[in-house]
Amino acid sequence: MKALEGVRVLDFTHVQSGPTCTQLLAWFGADVIKLERPGTGDATRAQLADIPGADSLYFTMLNHNKRSVELDTKTAGGRAVLTGLIEVCDVLVENFAPGALDRMGFSWEVIQGINPRLILASIKGFGPGPYADCKVYENVAQCVGGAASTTGFRDGIPTVSGAQIGDSGTGLHLALGIVTALFQRERTGRGQKVSAAMQDGVLNLCRVKLRDQQRLRHGPLREYSQFAEGLPFDEAVPRAGNDSGGGQPGRILRCKGWQDDPNAYTYFITQAAVWPRICTLIGRPAWVEDPDFATPEARLPRLNTVFEAIEAWTMTLTKFEVMEACNPLGIPVGPILSMQEIADDESLRQSGAIVEVDHPTRGRHLTVGCPIKLSDSAVEVTPAPLLGAHTGEVLAELLGYGAEDLELLARSGALGPPRRAAAE
Ligand code: COA
Repeated sequence: MKALEGVRVLDFTHVQSGPTCTQLLAWFGADVIKLERPGTGDATRAQLADIPGADSLYFTMLNHNKRSVELDTKTAGGRAVLTGLIEVCDVLVENFAPGALDRMGFSWEVIQGINPRLILASIKGFGPGPYADCKVYENVAQCVGGAASTTGFRDGIPTVSGAQIGDSGTGLHLALGIVTALFQRERTGRGQKVSAAMQDGVLNLCRVKLRDQQRLRHGPLREYSQFAEGLPFDEAVPRAGNDSGGGQPGRILRCKGWQDDPNAYTYFITQAAVWPRICTLIGRPAWVEDPDFATPEARLPRLNTVFEAIEAWTMTLTKFEVMEACNPLGIPVGPILSMQEIADDESLRQSGAIVEVDHPTRGRHLTVGCPIKLSDSAVEVTPAPLLGAHTGEVLAELLGYGAEDLELLARSGALGPPRRAAAE
């Protein structure tokens, strides 16, 4: 069996944050039923399209292993169906704009009245407070969660990360909240409301920067290059370029070919435990005993000198040769991999980090697989559903609708405009 087999999830999510969460639940075996607006569905189906007439990769990458039901929940028939589905499901996940579910007639109180065991899981941009009513997208979350002000270079503007820490990050947080609530329900029999705010999710991932904010009160941040360059700190944590966020100083260094290849770089960490090996490797054996370089404390004001010397060595090798030379010595380094290199990486295919999926309209394509592996609950990535592909199936299976009921429902407009229904 799969870990979440038997758990039914009403997936009222769209765009990225919510779908990330429900896709994980589906990968772990939950029956995830995506409710979509008739005719159009999740807006991402049509966004950033690359193949005419096919659902976009934006949509497919976030909606594998789900079923799709078209339902207009603002019609009487649609509301009746939604009520029925809430009765027989375990979890409802949504990431509408604040208040949208209430406006639809399904406040938390109403939902509890229908099914007290149901877990209602929501993502919003902000938690309670002055911005609770605001709509939020990924980059807004990165800006208000502390990521943008601390990312980039000191002399540049605030920068957002390519990693979707606001959307996918918060989806991950919500998934943990849901399985925790399911676990508690085993003992109490009660559902509960699970909320994750994108601002909070980003801040959680930026907690090292709030740590540094408080450290600033007690002196300069000595591991930041700014300190080694003798530049004073302001009152807020500055952008630190590629300086390591941890206690072991690290930087991105050029490798052979950097003049032509934008990714011919390596990350190099000067872990204290292997400092003597680093010195030997880069041809500076005297630094092992030299009081200016022998200890982490002594090196902090001289990090620019240290990394210049290491870079003089890394520039003689490709980023992969640096990895090969450092790994056996226990020196932590990592090549800067391009997305092309990642897509072509055989080991990532073998581990399931990247999988190939067949889709009915787009054909074979790559997608990121489940990043969490359970030894007793294997994940098989299946194609994202076409819009409404399971409407009849789900309504028959979960609510006992027969052909006539479906016909009536379709005529009422709950499954789309009546003319569409008539044509079906
Ligand atoms: N049937 C009927 N109505 C439906 C429906 C369905 N199946 N699915 C959605 N709707 C309605 C909603 O009820 C809402 O109606 P209302 O405005 O009258 O209340 C409407 O569609 C639009 O939904 P909304 O969530 O406001 O979409 P949006 O495109 O205006 O905003 C976001 C998009 C992402 C900005 C917004 O949903 C949001 O802030 N979400 C929370 C934070 C979040 O997850 N952001 C990250 C997204 S990756």
